[in-house]
Amino acid sequence: MIRNSIRFKASILYTSVLFVILVIFSGVLFSVTRYVLYQGLDDELRLKSSEIVNILKSYEKLSRSETPHQHLLNKLLGIEDRARLIVDDLWRSDMDALNLKKDYIVILDFQGRPIIRSQNFDAETARVFQEQLPLSVDFMVLKNIRKTGRPFRALNLPFLYNSRNLLVIQIATPMDAVIRMLNQLLYFIGIGILVILGITSFMGGFFTRRILRPVLNVTRIVDNISHKDLNRRIPEMAADAEMRQLIRSCNAMLERLEKSFAHVNEFSSHVAHELKTPLAIIRGEMELALSRTREPAEYEQVLQVSLEEVNRLIRIIKDLLLLARLDYNPDVFQFEKIHLTAFLEEIYEYTHILAEQKGLFSELRLSPAFQASPNQSVIEGDKLHLRRLFLNLINNAVKFTPKGGKITVSLAVSGRSAEIRVADTGVGIAEKDLNRIFDKFFRSGSQKQAEPGSGLGLSMARSIARAHQGDITVHSRPGEGTVFGVILPVIFSVPDNN
Ligand SMILES: Nc1ncnc2c1ncn2[C@@H]1O[C@H](COP(=O)(O)OP(=O)(O)OP(=O)(O)O)[C@@H](O)[C@H]1O
Ligand SMILES: [Mg+2]
Repeated sequence: MIRNSIRFKASILYTSVLFVILVIFSGVLFSVTRYVLYQGLDDELRLKSSEIVNILKSYEKLSRSETPHQHLLNKLLGIEDRARLIVDDLWRSDMDALNLKKDYIVILDFQGRPIIRSQNFDAETARVFQEQLPLSVDFMVLKNIRKTGRPFRALNLPFLYNSRNLLVIQIATPMDAVIRMLNQLLYFIGIGILVILGITSFMGGFFTRRILRPVLNVTRIVDNISHKDLNRRIPEMAADAEMRQLIRSCNAMLERLEKSFAHVNEFSSHVAHELKTPLAIIRGEMELALSRTREPAEYEQVLQVSLEEVNRLIRIIKDLLLLARLDYNPDVFQFEKIHLTAFLEEIYEYTHILAEQKGLFSELRLSPAFQASPNQSVIEGDKLHLRRLFLNLINNAVKFTPKGGKITVSLAVSGRSAEIRVADTGVGIAEKDLNRIFDKFFRSGSQKQAEPGSGLGLSMARSIARAHQGDITVHSRPGEGTVFGVILPVIFSVPDNN
């Protein structure tokens, strides 16, 4: 499994979370068990000590009921002392029932001097017990003690014997069994945790692989998609919601790529076509000229046509280069403050000349407010490129308006944007072409032959408008005329009074 993979990380995450939970759970389980077992030991010690005290009290009663003389006489006559026998039997059966053989028992006087001591431990051990068991004549005390590495639980219980003597019973019982049990529990917990973690990490890896299988499928499909089959899509079937989202995003991206590729292809074929036509004309002219010897005037004619076509080629290439720079390099613009009224008056001069040359009427319409205070309509723009934008619109208006028509340039401002309109009474644009006229190389079918042009003018105009945070709109009626509106954001403006 690769270490830097989701599968590996998910497995590690599952396993570590489970490990922490198991450790906490096992810790609590172990502590509770240990507490219960120790509690059991303490209860056992309390029971044993109180039983011993009870037996001692029985002997105490017995010794009070018979005088020493009577006891001696009974012994001499060989008469069995029944009460004593009963108490002795009780003592023996209690000793068996309480299983005191492994315990260390000692009865001390109130100064800690041993009166009776169990003989099941050697003298040295008895000394260690005595050293470690603290004497308390007031309270019952429970304590862990260690004798040569072996742990004992010990109890110290003071009691009153014969209503006069304060005695202390001390009893210590080995904790081996409890400790063995706890060790076994610890061992099983350890093994259990390891087994559970092993199973979880395997299952975690298995399930993560299942969950991530669609990712691998998507990767495989995407890997196989090349520029030749961008129309392929990744199937969404049986995928989880998140995966479906990813697949949809991939498919949407493929769709965008497919469109861009189609656009680039179309654009390249347009470029090739546009460049091929003038070249074909030049070649045709030259071949014709070379087919036989010609008069100098004929050669001049061929050179004239060729020069025109070369100029056309240069213009197309220049326009294309400029368009590419406008679209991809906003730094080509040098912005400055422009007074729209003055700027439009300048543009209108040019319109007027062109219109007059073709026998068209022209008009500039500015609202009186602008004329009175031209400072109030200022935009931030690149004069050179804006001039190029408007000249394209005006050239079109002149080109597509028959003699006797009219071209109107007007300015309207509303809110924070200005709209400069170039309207003509020309041939208009068919509705089906309206949303294509801004495409590169698009020229309406009817004008293709009639008017010269490469179909780049409007595309360039729109790029320039957009680079100024503006846009271009178009309204047209075939046979009636066309209105192009250039919308630009203004810095200062007055309300439109028109
Ligand atoms: N004012 C107009 N009236 C009618 N049709 C127009 C007008 N302006 C543009 N068009 C149509 O839109 C097409 C695209 O215009 P655009 O300015 O991009 O190209 P062009 O004028 O043909 O060539 P270029 O401007 O590159 O010399 C034109 O060919 C024409 O069909
Ligand atoms: Mg044009």
